[in-house]
Amino acid sequence: MVKRVAVTGAAGQIGYSLLPRIATGEIFGPETQVRLQCLELTPALESLKGVAMELDDCAFPLLTETVCTDNLEEAFEGADLVLLVGSKPRSAGMERKDLLLDNGPIFTGQGKAIEAAAGPNVRVVVVGNPCNTNCLIAMNNAKSVPADRWTAMTQLDHNRAQAQLALKAGVDSTEVKNIVIWGNHSNTQFPDWSHATIGGKPAADVIGDDAWLKNIFIPTVQERGKAIIEARGKSSAMSAGSAALDHARYLFQGTPDGEWTSIAIVSDGKYGVPEGLICSVPVTCPGDGTYKVVEGLEFSDFGQDKFQKSIDELSAERDTVSGLL
Ligand code: NAD
Ligand code: LMR
Repeated sequence: MVKRVAVTGAAGQIGYSLLPRIATGEIFGPETQVRLQCLELTPALESLKGVAMELDDCAFPLLTETVCTDNLEEAFEGADLVLLVGSKPRSAGMERKDLLLDNGPIFTGQGKAIEAAAGPNVRVVVVGNPCNTNCLIAMNNAKSVPADRWTAMTQLDHNRAQAQLALKAGVDSTEVKNIVIWGNHSNTQFPDWSHATIGGKPAADVIGDDAWLKNIFIPTVQERGKAIIEARGKSSAMSAGSAALDHARYLFQGTPDGEWTSIAIVSDGKYGVPEGLICSVPVTCPGDGTYKVVEGLEFSDFGQDKFQKSIDELSAERDTVSGLL
């Protein structure tokens, strides 16, 4: 069966890095054909046409068709997976939540169109910033689509945290397992090493430097997006596209045995997160599009305080967009 993948903002930076990798089977595997359904703003359709021409020129064996449209329902028609990328990125000096008033309204119409047109088992991954609260807006504008279908991306933060610990320990990143990103995809997120392992041993023991973990590791992960904007002049795109593929691949092909990842999902109250917020927590995925929250992890006072700050920020963002819910 051909999987339909809708990508918004498909002519943008992330779209350009994401589309060929979806077309080579990175989300649904090497046996599954895909149909790309690309949405863009009308003025960007010409540029999107060029991207579609390049996709044709790659002659990808799994790609059956590339639809290019500025019509929401055509883009989401029958979709198995929707990647909501299209929105403004921040520039130097901004926080992601400064985008809320510009980007938030995009997600009301997109939520409604997903409800009207997407496939019965659709999964939605929100990448466009501020992604947690944009996801909240889309979900609340599509009340008949079950709440567990809506996710926002903190996989990039998860990957960043994994990479920073691996660099510090001088090991391959695959040696680092079970980090958690708690909270918002913002500089209040809490990248938590306390349950992580490096080469099978507790990460804190291997790193052996509590001050580095608290004073260097946390802010490095929290502010990595900003550091990339300062260095590149544009927000992350290669790593963001790669993280979106990881996120979707975990949903559809599963997390490895004994490992979890971090996904922002709708809260049912676990870990003290107010119901209905879209908050990053550790999850395992069996590979059928569902996820299960990893329960029973404990916090130090330090960690609880960090997580609470991010929860408070998510609550404040929800208040800011209450008119869009
Ligand atoms: P970009 O400006 O290169 O591309 C965005 C594209 O979206 C443009 O082509 C634009 O025409 C299109 N677009 C804007 N509004 C649209 C709408 N209403 N419908 C359809 N398309 C629309 O930006 P980018 O670098 O690709 O980043 C896209 C978003 O992803 C930004 O909000 C950015 O902050 C966010 N982002 C999130 C993460 C994360 O970890 N969650 C990581 C990186 C970037
Ligand atoms: C990132 O984390 O790189 C993205 O969210 C882009 C940004 O604004 O930082």
